[in-house]
Amino acid sequence: MKHIRLLFVILFVTIIIIVKLSAGNAQTTGSATQEKTAEQVYKNIQVFKGLPASQFDSVMAFISGSLGVKCNYCHVNPFEKDDKPTKQTARKMIQMVFDLNKGSFNGQGTTVTCYTCHRGQPLPVSVPAVGQNLWQPANTKKREDAPLPSVDQILDRYVEAVGGKTAIEHVTSRVLKGSRIGADGVLVPEEVYAKAPNKLLVITSYPNAPIRVGFNGTEGWAQNSRGTNSLNKDQLMQLRFETEFYQPIRLKDIYSKLAVTTRTTIGDHEA
Ligand code: HEC
Ligand code: HEC
Repeated sequence: MKHIRLLFVILFVTIIIIVKLSAGNAQTTGSATQEKTAEQVYKNIQVFKGLPASQFDSVMAFISGSLGVKCNYCHVNPFEKDDKPTKQTARKMIQMVFDLNKGSFNGQGTTVTCYTCHRGQPLPVSVPAVGQNLWQPANTKKREDAPLPSVDQILDRYVEAVGGKTAIEHVTSRVLKGSRIGADGVLVPEEVYAKAPNKLLVITSYPNAPIRVGFNGTEGWAQNSRGTNSLNKDQLMQLRFETEFYQPIRLKDIYSKLAVTTRTTIGDHEA
């Protein structure tokens, strides 16, 4: 169950990133379809000028999700008002994220997003909590000298913990149906069809704008009410993990550089 929930979270983030990337592309190539931009539809748009209006909701949902807040954390009614300081801060943050991606990650991509720092909290943590200094783990002092397990040992143990290689390979297709709790507590129905080794179709039924993202093993596409776009190389890279049907037993193929670096704790457990 945990895995399925995690998968949903990953898919959600991926879909939003794809939506945002497509927005970036539309902006740079000039929209041939004359799609309305955010500032043509909404009243008080200062930083999202040029963003296709159809994607505005998803971007707001992504922002809310990244900060772990509801819409009213930044908004009063009506939404165009700038009464809350958090909305003003958010504008600066959005501009900062644009500048970071442009200036430091050479391009219009979305290498850095709100989630990179916020991780589901309104105030990111900038300093490790007292007693959690990663460079000097307080309560694992004794174990520190013990040798770390190898990458293979950890991965083998993981495969065992999720059911074992044979059981995993026994399954060749999977259908997940459920609802994702959207940013404002709204339930969005979602269906995921996956087939070994790497075919995927995700249908997210936003009320007025269902989105489908598919991958046939070589090519990927994203479809909304306005049409279908092929996914470019970067977008395919983002999907790579999700499309991998046998992901738990293929981690070493997916990630070419894996290393065990340190010991830490998650809750009461050593990790
Ligand atoms: C972290 C702050 C933040 C959260 C949370 C947030 N928004 Fe926004 N929202 C903004 C900012 C900033 C703008 C203005 C963007 C600009 O200037 O380009 C905006 C603009 C809008 C507008 C355009 C209003 C207009 O007419 O100018 C709408 C509609 C909107 N948001 C809806 C939502 C919804 C729905 C949610 C919840 C799913 C949400 N927002 C969550 C920060 C936020
Ligand atoms: C590079 C890291 C980073 C990124 C990326 C980032 N933020 Fe922030 N954000 C911060 C930090 C750090 C603070 C806390 C600043 C402080 O304590 O004064 C903050 C504070 C905020 C606050 C004020 C919270 C409060 O309760 O006062 C809002 C709203 C916010 N960020 C929105 C966003 C949005 C929206 C995005 C994405 C467009 C974003 N941030 C991306 C680092 C980041």
